[in-house]
Amino acid sequence: MTDILLEEAARQFDIENFLPGQRDAITSIFEKCDTLALLPTGGGKSLIYQLPAVMLDGVALVISPLIALMKDQVDALAARGVRAAYCNSTQDELEQMKVLSAAVTGKLKLLFISPEKAVSHSFLQLLSRMNVSLIAVDEAHCVSKWGHDFRPEFRQLHVLREVLKAKPPICALTATATGQVIQDITASLRMTNAKVVRRSFFRPNLEFSIAYPQNDGEKEAMLLELLEMMDFRKGPGKCIVYCSTRAKVDGVSELLRNHNFRAGKYHAGRTSGIRERTHDSYSIGKLNILVATNAFGMGMDDPDVRLIVHYQVPGSVEAYFQEAGRAGRNGNPARCVLFYMNGDFVTQNFLLGQERARKSGGEALLQIMRNYGTSTICRQKFLCGYFGEVVANCGKCDVCREDGKPAHTAEYLVALAEKKKAREIKSTHTFAAAEEEIVRGALKRYPAIFGKGIIAGLLHGSKAKDLLKYRLVSSEFYGKLSHIATEAIVKFLEQLIEQKQIKIAGQKYPKIYLADFPPDSPRGRNGKSKLRKTEKSQKEVSPESQLIRDLKNFRDREARKLKWKKFMVMQNAIIVRIARSRPNDLKELIAIKGFGSAKAERFGNEILRIVRACDSPAFPS
Ligand SMILES: Nc1ncnc2c1ncn2[C@@H]1O[C@H](COP(=O)(O)OP(=O)(O)OP(=O)(O)O)[C@@H](O)[C@H]1O
Ligand SMILES: [Mg+2]
Ligand SMILES: [Zn+2]
Repeated sequence: MTDILLEEAARQFDIENFLPGQRDAITSIFEKCDTLALLPTGGGKSLIYQLPAVMLDGVALVISPLIALMKDQVDALAARGVRAAYCNSTQDELEQMKVLSAAVTGKLKLLFISPEKAVSHSFLQLLSRMNVSLIAVDEAHCVSKWGHDFRPEFRQLHVLREVLKAKPPICALTATATGQVIQDITASLRMTNAKVVRRSFFRPNLEFSIAYPQNDGEKEAMLLELLEMMDFRKGPGKCIVYCSTRAKVDGVSELLRNHNFRAGKYHAGRTSGIRERTHDSYSIGKLNILVATNAFGMGMDDPDVRLIVHYQVPGSVEAYFQEAGRAGRNGNPARCVLFYMNGDFVTQNFLLGQERARKSGGEALLQIMRNYGTSTICRQKFLCGYFGEVVANCGKCDVCREDGKPAHTAEYLVALAEKKKAREIKSTHTFAAAEEEIVRGALKRYPAIFGKGIIAGLLHGSKAKDLLKYRLVSSEFYGKLSHIATEAIVKFLEQLIEQKQIKIAGQKYPKIYLADFPPDSPRGRNGKSKLRKTEKSQKEVSPESQLIRDLKNFRDREARKLKWKKFMVMQNAIIVRIARSRPNDLKELIAIKGFGSAKAERFGNEILRIVRACDSPAFPS
């Protein structure tokens, strides 16, 4: 059996020997066992389902999240004489039908399909009529809500086998899986007694290191220096620079081009045509540097990458290892450099916030990334350890090179500790009785209206947006404790909260008040209504000035729409006149000096509507 496997692999795929893990996983599929293959990026996962697919009777169903790569895979198989096709949303209905009927009539050995399509009602109906040899789920970490690319559609894939009488084996493949992810994958796909085939994640030819730029300028300089040093102007091989946001991709690729590097960019915001062209130029080596978001590279098979730079901290160690793992696939030495800057965690937190609805556990994943950056154990040991593997020191990474005492990591840690200390010093202040009185005064003035941050900012005299928004800069308490750091005031308020001298109202936005000076009525407890009162008492928004503002907004909108100059729609003087005379109808409007009937015809009704709206009780005079 085993020799037949290798013979067939050699014949169909020009392979001399199996890579570690391949034979075990393939054999397991032939034994009709559910199989989970955990092999590093570039570990040769495709062969694990492709070889059984050509040898077994029937068609193998391959679920792939990467529509963009399906065509490449099908083309590559076709070049080897394997009958494969794909079915996804890039095809029209007729094309899809043709492919699916080829699958039903046994004309295909492999059918690549997107998860969305796979679980659609129409497909499931056809599926029950197919002779399916095997169900392969590629990039299977997408199944798991603990994986970094979680896609909800993946969680319904278990229905595929359920509609099939023959119950073919399921093979899930991924490069990134911790214990939690593995459990989640096998449970969600309803795999039974899955055989797990894993191979060491250790990559002896990769040299991992971390750099600690202090600001964006330093980052740019470091990147340029690195590329220069590794001779990316002329030398062979390729480089991928990963960024977390599209804007950064744009900025960095421009920087590199301005310095005469042959750099292209790749992110989801570009049209697929441009993306494809960039990808092609990169593949054939016209461009040797690609600046990209993580949208680039999954399942990409480029042997010749000798440098991967993470310009910003990625969201998880899984993502990092998978992306960095694209280096050195040909076995030659390659470098993986992570730029580690505290500020980038803010970006990641922001991205996390946006995706919170889809993901859980994101913060924990990010914390591990933090640990990676501040750890002083061998980088590969850390990374492999994360995937549950114990390996020896790599001897190559920045930590190993400095015998476990990497100076730059130590420096970074010292700087971090110093910053923390400075923050602590800033937040310690012993409040004198007079100062405490001022704090209490502010809380009496604004009982249960603001949180501790705004109260502290108010007393310190901060220029934060919220203070402007609530017009607190004109409050008599603004800057009254300007000699005390905001942090110290916050800490003092927290002490008073602990001592129950200050209480908290409101759930969503906790607002504070003095225990011995509670907001007077139940209505007063509602911060919002109270706030409106204070706002009104402080700001001088007369109905007239409000109306002027509304009319100006309307005028500006119209000017933009019509591509006119603003004064051509209405001059300021006329706006003021309208606000003063408050016309009741078109006749009164036309009577206003400078406002002709042509304008009344065009804008009159809308202006009258604005005037009436401003008369309504929402703006009592
Ligand atoms: N037994 C083998 N001997 C030599 N080369 C192999 C063998 N198996 C696979 N390869 C080659 O290794 C490369 C990577 O394979 P493949 O794309 O399947 O990796 P992968 O594990 O799917 O990676 P990724 O996680 O990036 O999707 C391909 O060029 C493939 O032809
Ligand atoms: Mg792959
Ligand atoms: Zn090491």
